Amino acid sequence: MAAGEQMYLAVMASGPGSHVAAWLHPETDARAALSIASHTAMAQLAERGLFHMYFIADTPAARTTKLDLYSRMPIYMNQLEPITLMAALAATTRHIGLGGTVSASFYEPYNLARQFASIDHISGGRVAWNIVTSANDYAAQNFGLDKLPPHGDRYKRAAEFTDIVLKLWDSWEDDAFIRDRAQGLFFDPAKQHVLDHEGPYFKIHGALNIERSPQGRPVIIQAGASEAGMDFAASVAEVIFGAHETIEESRHFYDQLKTRLGKFGRAPEELRLLAGMPVIIADSAQEAEDKYQTLQALIHPVVGRGRLGMDLEADLSNLPLDEPVPEELLPKSANFHKKFYDTIVKMIREEKLTLRQMYLRYERARRTLRGTPVQIADTLQEWREAGACDGFMVMFPMMEDGLTRFVNGVTPELQRRGLLRQTQTEGTMRDALGLKRPPHPKAALSRAAE
Ligand SMILES: Cc1cc2nc3c(=O)[nH]c(=O)nc-3n(C[C@H](O)[C@H](O)[C@H](O)COP(=O)(O)O)c2cc1C
Repeated sequence: MAAGEQMYLAVMASGPGSHVAAWLHPETDARAALSIASHTAMAQLAERGLFHMYFIADTPAARTTKLDLYSRMPIYMNQLEPITLMAALAATTRHIGLGGTVSASFYEPYNLARQFASIDHISGGRVAWNIVTSANDYAAQNFGLDKLPPHGDRYKRAAEFTDIVLKLWDSWEDDAFIRDRAQGLFFDPAKQHVLDHEGPYFKIHGALNIERSPQGRPVIIQAGASEAGMDFAASVAEVIFGAHETIEESRHFYDQLKTRLGKFGRAPEELRLLAGMPVIIADSAQEAEDKYQTLQALIHPVVGRGRLGMDLEADLSNLPLDEPVPEELLPKSANFHKKFYDTIVKMIREEKLTLRQMYLRYERARRTLRGTPVQIADTLQEWREAGACDGFMVMFPMMEDGLTRFVNGVTPELQRRGLLRQTQTEGTMRDALGLKRPPHPKAALSRAAE
């Protein structure tokens, strides 16, 4: 991509902050994940900073075991459900896109299609669905299963689920609801398209009871890192989240995705890769480093050990903190997050780190960027211009502090460099992301026939 092209920005809503110990820091709001006032303030702030999307991650479960660990690391333990939260934010924001995570492993496609179509209408075309397949047994146990189904099966179900959702969103042609008082006709019956689906996971005969939404279809987000995940992303995603440490890794991932797009008859312009980027901003590089170290020092050993064990899918609870982890403890492969697993295995095999060194270093696949607004802008520019991504999924280890400093310092710096839009884009989130509104398939066919 050409130097100087603009970038797209999403921000991860993360309550007190994305750092595992953020809630312990005296300057964060430990109640933020549950506070609509806080979400509203953050989404409005991101909107002022010309972010394109406020993104909400999720898993449909509270942890019910290992509470000694989770009571110190309350991620996903007490937060607002994403669809509900997006509906509320749709009413209190005007421009910013709203991305919400719903698991295709534990939901019904009809419900999802209807809810997201509704929010697209409520928000004036600003909603996106992050399709995940979920990565924990706690969620599975809330939905009739003892264990999470195997990785490959989850992606098969997600593919069928998504295919249904996309078709349901096309239940009606754009101009189906004519509300013609003279004829006494509310809709044109010829413009309804009934879905008749029977597959391995779902059986559906029906149509949505809501008209085609402002974006045609909500934007589709995915973040698969595995082979199956990347294929799925290439087949359907319009925004993809990456989690890579270096420009080279991210560019390689992006190149692979672009190659795969062809397999599904898609073009590179139909995809936006947003690189996950945790950011700490301060007035000087040293202050930013100090902030980071303050947060790291707040990690309780129970949490450090537990997080590593969770992502490695191994029990590390009885290992000494200050000795290397024995290689024979390593499971052969990952069923949850393959990328996180690989990162830890590398630290154990190649660097022979102790447990404590590992947990003070481990950052779930992405090193936190620390620096002044100008330094942060430099790095974002470098990634963007190297073709490593189209923009960023910015995470703030301390949410309010980070987002405020970004909006006040990094946004104007990026604008000065011509790397970020100067004003809000008119229209929908698709317009802001430069993604086409998908024509109704029927409309596309009849146009082609003309
Ligand atoms: C920025 C980002 C956000 C994510 N958000 C969620 C989430 O909210 N819920 C979830 O279950 N997984 C989430 N994931 C995990 C991905 O959906 C996916 O499972 C992971 O990248 C591993 O890919 P794989 O399943 O293909 O191995 C996220 C990943 C990234 C990079």
